[in-house]
Amino acid sequence: MRITVVNGPNLNMLGKRESGFYGTFTLADLEKAILDHVKGRAEVAFYQSNHEGEIITYLQNLGENDRLILNAASLTHTSIGIRDALNATKVPFVEVHISNVYAREEFRQKSYLSDIARGVIAGLGADGYLAAADYFIRNQK
Ligand code: DQA
Repeated sequence: MRITVVNGPNLNMLGKRESGFYGTFTLADLEKAILDHVKGRAEVAFYQSNHEGEIITYLQNLGENDRLILNAASLTHTSIGIRDALNATKVPFVEVHISNVYAREEFRQKSYLSDIARGVIAGLGADGYLAAADYFIRNQK
């Protein structure tokens, strides 16, 4: 089993963007925290892109061994293409958001992904990714 963590648009700006919603940690800090948390329990891969098509291609190439932690960021609320790629590959995934999207603008409360996810975690900051990793380590199917 490999835990694959995919972060979408603007998450490369963590540490610089709206700290009230996203904290002060950087993407590198986040990835290190996940690695430290998982260490020795699973293989981990990371991918970040600001481009919808690149994310879709990355998702298309995931294999049977992959378990996906996906923060599609703004694309969560817009992307039928990402939904279709997830349905095509059938990769088990947990949808994660750093901020509590339900306490923000109404347009963030619509997700094209939630109903096909194993589960959704929002508002727990970086801890949401760690909880999702623990879920996959305990539930490998
Ligand atoms: C986000 C929430 C999205 O609404 C937003 O567009 C993001 C990040 C989060 O992690 O809280 O870029 O997915």
